[in-house]
Amino acid sequence: MPDSHAFIFITCQIGAERAVKGEIARRRPDFRFSYSRPGFLTFKLPENVAFAEDLDLESVFARAHSFSLGKVQGGDPAEMAKKVWEVFGGREAKRVHVWPRDAAEPGRHGYEPSLAPEAFDIHRKILAACPNPAMLAKDAVQMCRPSSRTDRGEAILDCVLVAPGEWWIGRHRVGSITSSWPGGMLNLEWPALEKGTGTFCRNGPKGAAHKMCLSPFPGPVSRAWLKMEEALEWSRLPIPRDARVAEIGSAPGGASQALLARGCYVLGIDPAEMDPAVLAHPRFTHLRRRSTQVRRREFRKIRWLAVDMNVAPSYTLDAVEEIVTHPEIGVRGMILTLKFPDWSLADEVPEYLARIKSWGYNLVRARQLQHNRREICVAALQKPFYRKTLRD
Ligand SMILES: C[S@@+](CC[C@H](N)C(=O)[O-])C[C@H]1O[C@@H](n2cnc3c(N)ncnc32)[C@H](O)[C@@H]1O
Repeated sequence: MPDSHAFIFITCQIGAERAVKGEIARRRPDFRFSYSRPGFLTFKLPENVAFAEDLDLESVFARAHSFSLGKVQGGDPAEMAKKVWEVFGGREAKRVHVWPRDAAEPGRHGYEPSLAPEAFDIHRKILAACPNPAMLAKDAVQMCRPSSRTDRGEAILDCVLVAPGEWWIGRHRVGSITSSWPGGMLNLEWPALEKGTGTFCRNGPKGAAHKMCLSPFPGPVSRAWLKMEEALEWSRLPIPRDARVAEIGSAPGGASQALLARGCYVLGIDPAEMDPAVLAHPRFTHLRRRSTQVRRREFRKIRWLAVDMNVAPSYTLDAVEEIVTHPEIGVRGMILTLKFPDWSLADEVPEYLARIKSWGYNLVRARQLQHNRREICVAALQKPFYRKTLRD
């Protein structure tokens, strides 16, 4: 079992382990890879080095990380919950995050990484076993809070369900938006149809009803809705209501729905068919063409760009560069999906980001989102529109 603070553990998408190792080797050459299971890696930390408790690994592929305190094993979750606090050893904790190691590659037999019900159940058991409940935040019982609440600086007890009867315990302090989410995951739910209406109104991840829904949809038309919701929550791009957004690779339209629900005007560019429910939205326009066939003047009023084409990153970046570097086009910010037909392209990410910066985007961040498959999300913003919020 690792010594206190001698190790850090990282959870990621299954398949991304090599990409995580590559990033750590480049950015943190003093970390030594120690042990891994699919979707879970540990690294030995250098001795006599103090790390900030809210350490930012600046990793694209690590979904979450935690300073390891050791593991608990057993057959009875209630007993294991007691042992969690023994391992935690009287340290400060305001909240408890529990999440499972991913069970499969995203998309395999429909698998979607998520906070499974088991995580919520074990969260309740760990809270019930807390020897000093007074130290916990008043609302600690809610593991997932509205994503607008970040509470930087809060001390978190982390518990990763690595295997049945094997939980790894660690700690971190919230230093970023995603480190306030258990395991870096949102508890996004596919919106249920409103009873009797056949429509849904977008709710925040914690059910905070919001008023931006302009017109009803018959539910999200593609899982890209999840990707766009998560991208917007993570990036906090300051896209105002009534913003003009172009989405290249928009069909069938889940991502456009997330933007329309926030009050944006969406220009969808895709040679494929849009879902009729999206086409019918008064703020949606479809250009049924490839990105290369769209006249530059169509982008003149566009201030925000989303791109999600099923093509290689170099194709996406060439297409975007042509648009955003055009002298008559003023795109302030972007959400780009870069797909990796081959995992080795993960090594090219630093070059991709440098290229995007070179177009005048001062703030460029990338993350493999919970709802990304073999792809990453890049958020980019131009300086005059910079807000302090774009930190992963
Ligand atoms: C992953 S799907 C997009 C999903 C979509 N964002 C949604 O919300 O449902 C990829 C799309 O990229 C489109 N595509 C591929 N090459 C394209 C190009 N050169 N220009 C525009 N769209 C393209 C495909 O037709 C396909 O609909």
